[in-house]
Amino acid sequence: MLKKKSSYVMAILGATGAVGKETLEILEERKFPLASLRLFASKRSAGEVITCLGREWKVEELTPESSFAGVDIALISATDAISRDYGQRLGAAGVVVIDDSGVFRMEPDVPLVVPEVNVHALGTIPRGIVSIPNCTTTPLVMALKPLQEAAGIHRVVVTTFQSVSGTGTAAMDELMTQTKDLMAFRDVKAEVYPYQIAFNVLPHIGSFNDGGDCSEEVKIAKESRKILEAPLLRVTATTVRVPVLRCHSEAINVELERPLKANEARAVLAAMPGVIVYDDPTRKLYPMPLDATGKDEVYIGRIREDESITNGLNLWVVSDNLRKGAALNAVQIAECLVQT
Ligand SMILES: NC(=O)c1ccc[n+]([C@@H]2O[C@H](COP(=O)([O-])OP(=O)(O)OC[C@H]3O[C@@H](n4cnc5c(N)ncnc54)[C@H](OP(=O)(O)O)[C@@H]3O)[C@@H](O)[C@H]2O)c1
Repeated sequence: MLKKKSSYVMAILGATGAVGKETLEILEERKFPLASLRLFASKRSAGEVITCLGREWKVEELTPESSFAGVDIALISATDAISRDYGQRLGAAGVVVIDDSGVFRMEPDVPLVVPEVNVHALGTIPRGIVSIPNCTTTPLVMALKPLQEAAGIHRVVVTTFQSVSGTGTAAMDELMTQTKDLMAFRDVKAEVYPYQIAFNVLPHIGSFNDGGDCSEEVKIAKESRKILEAPLLRVTATTVRVPVLRCHSEAINVELERPLKANEARAVLAAMPGVIVYDDPTRKLYPMPLDATGKDEVYIGRIREDESITNGLNLWVVSDNLRKGAALNAVQIAECLVQT
């Protein structure tokens, strides 16, 4: 576990990526007690200078020879291969690793944490690794936790509308380039996704299994059960990539164990830390990606009873995938660890 200090040396593996850059902003905003930073990326970015906390930091190339002597905490937001190689190694060497990939999430001896939902899971970190959930699971469990406590949950049906920043910087560039090309009547190239994403919608995130589910759909179901400590919870997901730059939206249908009126649901959701209920159809108020961009909170609206099933509830949830879906959740975990 982390030794108590007045300030900590933090390494960020993937510091130049979409999540890495957001992490640096959040560390600065939240005044995380940093003694110093070590920023790592690929050879492409080595030598780049990044300003954070009023100081300039040079990006180092991550290589098997990179030394992590003196590093207390490592945030890994790079690739699955990097998480696999360095997560294990750094955790075993006594560095507390907070990992953003899917590599360790379902391992029983790795806590999978959203601090507002299951901070107690940080009580033991046997391998020195804490995982953060997929960027769609985090807002989902933030919405489900208070409903689970208020009325129990039998089944969840979720459809996601995921922005391209969930795939990283290259996908954001691809959406912008394709949009400009289309507006100029030029041919469009699809490199990050299998098809054009501009002015399109792709019902496909990750890889398909034999049953036809996308890996993202499987992750949502498994991770939600682990975080909510509800191994029998029925969850089914359809994950969709949409031409939005930032923020994931989710249409969630919940079958509760006990009745809960829409107004009661609004009240329990509003009391959940990190959630903002933004729900007034009479004034056309509902959350949209543009509202949640750059915000820390998970926004919930369109809260209504679903009369097609017993104890049914519909919700619309929007959250910034680069903040609460990734960087913010990781920094909040680090804050919890330095406070305990
Ligand atoms: N984007 C999201 O909303 C989100 C949410 C949850 C989890 N995640 C996870 O977070 C991780 C990073 O995602 P991202 O969206 O930030 O991706 P990204 O924008 O593509 O950034 C990838 C980062 O990894 C670095 N990198 C790539 N290959 C490397 C190598 N061989 N050696 C060293 N560094 C290397 C890149 O460095 P260069 O700049 O030098 O290429 C860059 O800093 C992934 O595991 C992803 O699944 C992302």
